[in-house]
Amino acid sequence: MKRQARRALVAGNWKMNGLKGSRREVSALARRLGAAAFNPKCDVMVCPPATLVTLLRESAKGSRVKIGAQDCHWNPTGAHTGDVSAEMLKDAGAVSVIVGHSERRSDHGETDGMVNAKAQAAYRAGLGAIICVGETEAERKAGRTLRVIGGQLKGSLPENADARNTVIAYEPVWAIGTGLTPTTDDVAEVHKYIRKRVAALLSDETASKMRILYGGSVKPANADELMAIDNVDGALVGGASLKAADFLGIIAAYL
Ligand code: 13P
Repeated sequence: MKRQARRALVAGNWKMNGLKGSRREVSALARRLGAAAFNPKCDVMVCPPATLVTLLRESAKGSRVKIGAQDCHWNPTGAHTGDVSAEMLKDAGAVSVIVGHSERRSDHGETDGMVNAKAQAAYRAGLGAIICVGETEAERKAGRTLRVIGGQLKGSLPENADARNTVIAYEPVWAIGTGLTPTTDDVAEVHKYIRKRVAALLSDETASKMRILYGGSVKPANADELMAIDNVDGALVGGASLKAADFLGIIAAYL
């Protein structure tokens, strides 16, 4: 176990999965995580669909598991059919919200400017923002990875972002849900670059304290290796966060 420069965060992004929407299963998973989330070396968060935020908040009560959400609108209220505001998520019991996930960027055409506005909405509501960036396979093959991520950071990271209200997640689009992961050298290169860009955009102090998560096919079998890379301060986990044993196996990288 390497010495940690920053307290790690392992966050589960359930995406549009609610374990078949079964209240019993969802509660049981939250309780299992709660019982095991005693780990003093990392924070544990679960980001379920908005419909399950309150249920999970209740189930995780008394434990150290924090509850987040997956997206928010940039306005606090109004005529935006189908959307949920950051204030509503806070009201439901979330402490944080993911913004700019590549699935939002591709499924809903979200731009860096929209992601920036969503992050600011999170701060306004008193939520933390987990801001996602990452290159596509074509961009990596064209040698444009760092340029793409630099541009996403410049556009998506609000000027008033700091290490308390913001976590960055590096998620290569081609590694999400595919079982593929970048080499440890590639992850190290991107995370180092992200910290450098955050220093240039915000400040050296903010950059040294801000957590930068890796996401994309993280599982128990590769968590030790990925979490040991310099400048990797935790994981944003998709598929493997849906099974308690797998999610706990990833958290175990910090035991
Ligand atoms: P997988 O862990 O399923 O690859 O998903 C990663 C992700 O998109 C988390 O936000």
